[in-house]
Amino acid sequence: MMPRADRPTPVYRKLFPRERGLVQQHFLQLNPASRRSRFGGLVSDPFIRAYSSALLGPGSLIYGAFDGERLLGVGELSLVFNKGPASGEIAVSVGEAWRGRGIGSALVSRALLSARNRVLDHTYLFCQQENRPMQRIAKKFGANITMLHGERLAEFRFPLADHFSFVTEWLGDTKGAIAYLRLRPH
Ligand SMILES: CC(C)(COP(=O)(O)OP(=O)(O)OC[C@H]1O[C@@H](n2cnc3c(N)ncnc32)[C@H](O)[C@@H]1OP(=O)(O)O)[C@@H](O)C(=O)NCCC(=O)NCCS
Repeated sequence: MMPRADRPTPVYRKLFPRERGLVQQHFLQLNPASRRSRFGGLVSDPFIRAYSSALLGPGSLIYGAFDGERLLGVGELSLVFNKGPASGEIAVSVGEAWRGRGIGSALVSRALLSARNRVLDHTYLFCQQENRPMQRIAKKFGANITMLHGERLAEFRFPLADHFSFVTEWLGDTKGAIAYLRLRPH
């Protein structure tokens, strides 16, 4: 294991649409077991390329955990428009080498803040039955976990958005944009 001093303390920020390629690269680097956990099945490189091409559009918001320019993990909030009011689906993945350091939890926490501020009808996450780390994180954030079509469905409940939740997201966005500009001054 890496000595403590060498372990990165990630910077968390929302990704900009122009950074879609970084997310694709992150997904392509996941091993088969991780891809299965993230996408609910063993997905090919072409599938990941197609999936990634739709990311960061109007209904997709992604937080990244960065060590400098290196993307260690991503947490996605997708807006789902069915018949009723919009819902939010969260999905998260952390590179195998960076797990067990709180990165997945930090990404879920931020995605939940954004879901709260979009006043969605409900917010949920799917994972496989054997995915204990994901269920542990979901429970930590108060999810109610049930079974649906052989998978675990974690449904989150939180209070309505308020001044504090809006300002917290806005401050995070501002800090994130500054971190981005420091890396890539224009
Ligand atoms: C699920 C995933 C995102 C977690 O990322 P992570 O950075 O390791 O998460 P964290 O370090 O924040 O938390 C992991 C938690 O699981 C716990 N955990 C780890 N292994 C466990 C196990 N076998 N049984 C129970 N809990 C376990 C850890 O103790 C930690 O809980 P704690 O914070 O209360 O100590 C990561 O494993 C991953 O990317 N998996 C592949 C993709 C995936 O499964 N996505 C979920 C479906 S969308």
